[in-house]
This record gives sequence, C-alpha cells and structure tokens, in this order.
Amino acid sequence: MTATDPTMNPTTATVPVIGILVGSTRPTRVGRQLADQIAELARLRSEADITVVDLAEVALPFLDEPEMPSLGRYVHEHTRAWKRTIDGLDALIIVSPQYNGGYPAPLKNAIDFLYAEWSGKPILLVTYGYHGGVLAAEQLVPVLTRIKANVLEPQIAMTVTDADRKDRGQLADPCQIVERHRAPLEVGFAAIHAALGC
Ligand SMILES: Cc1cc2nc3c(=O)[nH]c(=O)nc-3n(C[C@H](O)[C@H](O)[C@H](O)COP(=O)(O)O)c2cc1C
Repeated sequence: MTATDPTMNPTTATVPVIGILVGSTRPTRVGRQLADQIAELARLRSEADITVVDLAEVALPFLDEPEMPSLGRYVHEHTRAWKRTIDGLDALIIVSPQYNGGYPAPLKNAIDFLYAEWSGKPILLVTYGYHGGVLAAEQLVPVLTRIKANVLEPQIAMTVTDADRKDRGQLADPCQIVERHRAPLEVGFAAIHAALGC
C-alpha cells in the first residue's frame, strides 16, 4: 500500500503513494502533458511518492470480466494487474478532460473494471477544457461516490484555450497552465494529505 514497508525496515518512515491518473488516451492528447506537470508540482509540495498512471499505457480492453466486478472474482490478468495498480495507491488525482459534456469512455471503463478497490480511496478530481471541464467532474462525482470512493473537495477546473496550443493541439507550455492553477492545486494536495492523515 505504501512506498516503504515499515515492517521491512523500521527505521524508514512510511511514505504514502499518490497516483496521478491520465484519463485521456488519444494519441495527441494533452492529458499526459498536464498530468506530468501536476506530478512535478506535487513532488515539490508533497513528500508522498508521486506516480503517473497512464490509461493509454494500462491499455485495458473494454470490460470483459464474466462476473460482476463487485464480486471481486477477476479472471483476466489485465484486470488483476489493474487491481494491483489501484491497490498500490493510497490516493489518486484523476486528470480528466471534458468530452461532449462528460468524461472519456476509457476512464469510465477503467473505473467499472474494479469495485472494492475504489472503496474509501481519496480521489481528487482535476478536469480541463475550454471552460475547465466542470461537466466531466459533475459526472465523475456521482459515479465515484456510488462505488464508495472518498471524493475530495475542491474539484479543480483547469482552463485550456486554443492560445495554449501549438501544432496538433499539443500544449506549448503545460507548466504555464499548471502555474496559473497552482493555488487550487495546492489546496487539493492539502486535502489529499488531510484525508491520508499526514
Ligand atoms: C471528443 C471530444 C469532445 C470534446 N468536448 C468538449 C467539451 O464538451 N467541452 C470542452 O470544453 N472541450 C471539449 N473538447 C475539447 C477538449 O477539451 C480538448 O480537446 C482537450 O485537449 C481534450 O483533452 P485531451 O487532449 O487530453 O484528450 C472535446 C474534445 C474531444 C476530443
């Protein structure tokens, strides 16, 4: 569950592991750029072990488990690997764009693959879009609440405009975007630490 197992080395402090989940999988997405930059800021502001979890690399198929995920009887190795990834995180920051008034299908699929693994997990939502992607957060909150995740306040909405982009829509300077949302992001990091009791 944590980066350092205190039973292995009692002199080493336990460090929580915070995953930054990239919710978009398009080849030209900006989500990975933003997640990497949020990770940089989190590493500066937190002593937690910060790890980026990229759904494009996780590469789950559409949900193909024969039984209800709530039963936890996973038969596929990709599901078990995804379970190990989520079990290994003490908290998550979900970085999600807004697509057509909601959030991306691969993110819903990744959520639906598991069930008990989300229970009680502190999750900070960071959405982005022309108007901050707030409609994605509006849809994620009831879904994550339904599976008993601990959805933290505040939800952070990052405004990304065409002026922020260069060729093929990639961000010219993701650092600048994260910097202009630095204050709410730091409030969010504090909320994660409060939820983890550290
Ligand atoms: C399928 C699709 C739907 C979109 N719908 C919205 C939308 O509803 N609101 C919005 O502000 N931007 C919308 N956008 C623009 C995205 O915010 C922008 O493309 C962003 O870069 C997407 O994140 P990504 O590059 O990480 O995939 C949409 C983009 C795509 C690809």
